[in-house]
Amino acid sequence: MSFKLVLFAAGLTLAPFALGCADEALPSQPAGWDSAVTLREAVDKNPDPAIVEVDLSARPSDLEILPGTTTPAWTYDGGLPGPFIRAKLGDRVIVHFKNELPSPTTVHWHGIRVPANMDGTPGHSQPDTLPGESFTYDFVASDPGLYWYHPHVDSAVQVGNGLYGPLLVDDPGEGEKLGDELVLVLSDMAIAEDGSLEDPKTGGNFGTLFGREGNVLLVNGRVDPTIEARAGLRQRWRIVNAAKSRYYYLAIAGHEFTRIGGDGGWMEHPVETDKLLLTPGERADVLVEPRGAPGSTLSVRWVPYDRGYGTTFNRPEEEVFRIHLTNEPAAEAAPLPTIARSIEALDTAGAKPVKLTLTQSELNGEVVMGINGVPSWEANPLMAAVGETEVWTIDNTMEFDHPFHLHGFFFQPLDESGAPIRPIEWKDTLNVAVDGTSRFAVKYDNRPGMWMFHCHILDHADAGMMGMVQLQQ
Ligand code: C2O
Ligand code: CU
Ligand code: CU
Repeated sequence: MSFKLVLFAAGLTLAPFALGCADEALPSQPAGWDSAVTLREAVDKNPDPAIVEVDLSARPSDLEILPGTTTPAWTYDGGLPGPFIRAKLGDRVIVHFKNELPSPTTVHWHGIRVPANMDGTPGHSQPDTLPGESFTYDFVASDPGLYWYHPHVDSAVQVGNGLYGPLLVDDPGEGEKLGDELVLVLSDMAIAEDGSLEDPKTGGNFGTLFGREGNVLLVNGRVDPTIEARAGLRQRWRIVNAAKSRYYYLAIAGHEFTRIGGDGGWMEHPVETDKLLLTPGERADVLVEPRGAPGSTLSVRWVPYDRGYGTTFNRPEEEVFRIHLTNEPAAEAAPLPTIARSIEALDTAGAKPVKLTLTQSELNGEVVMGINGVPSWEANPLMAAVGETEVWTIDNTMEFDHPFHLHGFFFQPLDESGAPIRPIEWKDTLNVAVDGTSRFAVKYDNRPGMWMFHCHILDHADAGMMGMVQLQQ
């Protein structure tokens, strides 16, 4: 047990007489430090501690995102982002979903190993949920980490209008608290000055090729919020990039991020980085120790990331949010406990090779994207068997990067020689760079059914860069 925990225990014993002292012994963030980014929590209606049961409705809702204007957003439960669903490892999660949108929709549980019929892929795992209809999702939170939910019908439009929310699976066995926690849903929205939403087809074919980014950056639905923090105290941020096309590349001048995990919980060991990349759909679990003069403000910035043809041209950095440091002197950071997870490399000897090429073509003057030259609506599913291991090699022939996402199964990224990239981590979304090749190993567990894979730049997915795995018993 650490020194910090001993102090904490002592503080509890003394609490009746020495409430004020506990704070001095244990430096803490100022009261309400994170109120600028607070998430609305979903209400768990089920008294069973091992079941999280919530209602969720998708509906249009007028929101004030830019001050003094009204944006006709599409929301889960009336707010942006959708309610924060929080479960413990192994909990059963039941979501009573109601569609109050004017369009069909579904809910996809990105990254979670749900059964195929709970995956929210229309036509394959469930029928569209039509306006006025309901659907109950029921699955087990079987892996720790930050996940997210979003529609899988007309995705670029529906996600772009505001439909996405976080789902955190806490691991009670993780041990000591690593820092003061924030869950950050990063996104963007294309909003005109009067608050109206931009036409989702803006820019025509070029917009589709580029992937339409929103002009307004959002953190937990807020524009450039400020959190209050005491310098030196370690914070733990679990971040998801819920933007439909934008790559989030984050930097804080003079600071490093300690990345301890990604899509599917912790990595083998942490890595230090001064810029943190999250492609659409990806998650990161990072430790940050803000430092600076008392009373000063740090800027957490979006830095242009070259994801291909012209994507960084003339683009300035932008502020995503701020950290205002209190006037207290920097606190002494508690020593970082060893963070390690043993992850066995998947055995790829004899694995079945799957080779995909991400392609672009044109049909009647419209950009069509595809995989191996075939758009999703004409593609035959790839056949796979439960228990089988595959090595996927994904080549990119386009002028743009593609964040490649596989539903339902985590995979392990491999290098050119086929060896696992260290530190090993479980991922579900992986960037494929311009003229580049990405590789991963995946082992299918016993969840037969139809599973999608696609580019998570949603304009690309909608333009045909999507396919299916038909997993058979
Ligand atoms: Cu976020 Cu089909 O996925
Ligand atoms: Cu997904
Ligand atoms: Cu793409």
